[in-house]
Amino acid sequence: MNKFYLTTAIDYVNGAPHIGHAYEKILTDIIARHFSQRCDDVYFLTGTDEHGIKIQKTAAEKGITPKELCDENAQKFKDAWKALDVDYTKFIRTTDEEHEKIVQKIFDKLLKQGDIYKHSYEGLYCAGCECFLNPKDLTEDGLCPDHLKKPEVVSEENYFFKLTKYKDAIIKHIKENPGFIVPEFRANEVLNQLEDIQDISVSRAKSNVQWGIDVLGDADQSIYVWIDALSNYITALGYDTENPSETFKKYWPANVQVIGKDILKFHSIYWPAFLMALDLPLPKQILAHGWITIDESKMSKSLGNVISPTSVLETFELESPDAFRYYMATSAPCGRDGNYSDDDFKEKVNAHLANSMGNLLNRTLSMLVKYFDGEVKPEFKDENPLAKKALGTVQIVKNHFDNFEISEAGLEIVQLVDTVNKYVQDNTPWTLAKEEKMTECGQVLINVLEIMCIISALIYPYCPNIAKEMARQLSFDLSIKLDDLTCDNIKTGKLISKDEIKPVFLRVDSELADKSSKK
Ligand code: MSP
Repeated sequence: MNKFYLTTAIDYVNGAPHIGHAYEKILTDIIARHFSQRCDDVYFLTGTDEHGIKIQKTAAEKGITPKELCDENAQKFKDAWKALDVDYTKFIRTTDEEHEKIVQKIFDKLLKQGDIYKHSYEGLYCAGCECFLNPKDLTEDGLCPDHLKKPEVVSEENYFFKLTKYKDAIIKHIKENPGFIVPEFRANEVLNQLEDIQDISVSRAKSNVQWGIDVLGDADQSIYVWIDALSNYITALGYDTENPSETFKKYWPANVQVIGKDILKFHSIYWPAFLMALDLPLPKQILAHGWITIDESKMSKSLGNVISPTSVLETFELESPDAFRYYMATSAPCGRDGNYSDDDFKEKVNAHLANSMGNLLNRTLSMLVKYFDGEVKPEFKDENPLAKKALGTVQIVKNHFDNFEISEAGLEIVQLVDTVNKYVQDNTPWTLAKEEKMTECGQVLINVLEIMCIISALIYPYCPNIAKEMARQLSFDLSIKLDDLTCDNIKTGKLISKDEIKPVFLRVDSELADKSSKK
C-alpha cells in the first residue's frame, strides 16, 4: 500500500458542529492515523459545504450575508476539529475560488458532451436534504421522512444530468464489487433505489437560489449543491478537466470515502455517475456510518438536545479529547447507530481507559521503580508468554480496520489490556518480590511493559495523547509501523524514575458528570 486517500462528508455551515458531525470526523481521523501506521502517505480531506438555499435562508434570517455566515461557521468547524485532534491534510470550503472555477468547468464539460441538458420541471424540493424528493418517498402526511417538513413545490427550468444513462453501469459495479459499499447490507438498499432512478436536476433558477456557483454562460442558473459538493473530493486534489495536477493523479481514486447513511444515495449513485461521465475511476470504498443519538433520541434543535463536541470536553474538564474520541469510535459498530449519554461516557472511559489501561501501566512502572529503582536488567528480558496474544491482536486489529470495524478493533485492544491485567493478577509480582524471587518479578514486569508498548501503538489512532504519554514513559518510539512491531521494545538500563511516572488518564470526575446531567 503506497498511498491512502480518505475523505469525510463536507458539513453544511448553516449551524455549528454537533457531535454527529464530530463522530464522522473522529472515525475518519482514526482510520487515517491507523493507516499512517501501515503506509507512508496518507491524505485526509475534510471541509465544509457552503452553497445552497439552506445557507441562503439562514443568513437572511440572521441579517448577514451568506459569505459572512459561511466564514463564521466554517471557523467553528475548524476549531472543533482542532480541539478533537482531527488531523486532516486539507480543509476544503466549497466557496474556495479554485473549487468554484473547476466546478464550473466540470459542469461545462458535462453539458458540452451531452450528459447535461435543459428541461422544464415541477418537483417537490426539500431544503433540508437540498434535493428534489420522489412523492412515493414522503410520509403519509406528505412530509420529508428525514426532516419531517413539507417539501416546497418548485416549478423551474433547470439543467438535468442524465443519471439514467449510467444506471446499468452502476448496478454492475455494485454487484461486481461487494466491498464497494460498507457495510454490505446497505448495498441492497442502494440497488433498490437504483430501480426507479430518474435524471436529476443539477441547477436551480438564480431567481430562487442566488447563493450558488454560476453556470458558465448562463447567468440565470446556479449549479445545484450536489454536483458542487461531491466534486470537492477531486477539486481539493487539483483535478482539472484539461490538466489534472500531479497530486490528483497520485491520490485519486480515494481508498475510502466516509459518509453518513443519510447521504449514501448521493455517494453511491450520483457520485459514481458523475465520475463515469468524467471518465474517472470510482472510489474504492464508501463507508456509510450510522447516526449518533443522544440518550437514545434523535438529535434535533426542536428537542433541544443538540450537543457540541467541545461542550463534552468542557463538562468533564478533559485535558485532551482522547476519552471522547475513544467513546465515540466504540459507541457502535460503524454502520449501526450509536448513542451518547453522559453516564455511559463516564462509566466506559473510566473502566477502559483509567482503571484498566492507565492503571496497569502506572502500577507496573511503580513496581519497577520500587523493586529495581526503574532499572531493566538483561535477565528480565525473557521469553514472553503474552507475545503470541499481543502480536495476534495486532493482526486482528489490522483485519478489523481493513473492514472498517473501528469499534470492534477498539474493543479488541481493551481485551488485550484485560489479558495483561489478568497475567499480573495471576503472577503477583508483589508476592514474587516479597519472596525475593527478583529475577522472576522483573521478568513479569518487563513482559507487561513490552506489551504496553504494543498497546500504546494500537490505541494511538483512538487516543493519540494518551498513547504518546504511555510511549514517553516506556521510552518507546511510536512512529514504528505496525508490521515492524515485536515484543522486544524495552531497552535494558534505567527506564524511568519515580517523578517521571504520571497517570496517563485521570478518571472522569463523577461529580462533574452529575452536575452536567442535572443541567
Ligand atoms: N453537505 C452534505 C454532505 C455533502 S458531502 C459531498 C451534508 N451535510 S450535513 O452537515 O448535513 O452532514 C454532514 C455529515 O454529518 C453527513 O455524513 C451526515 O450523515 C453526518 N451527520 C449529521 N448528523 C449526524 C448524526 N446525528 N450522527 C452521525 N452523523 C451525522 O449532508
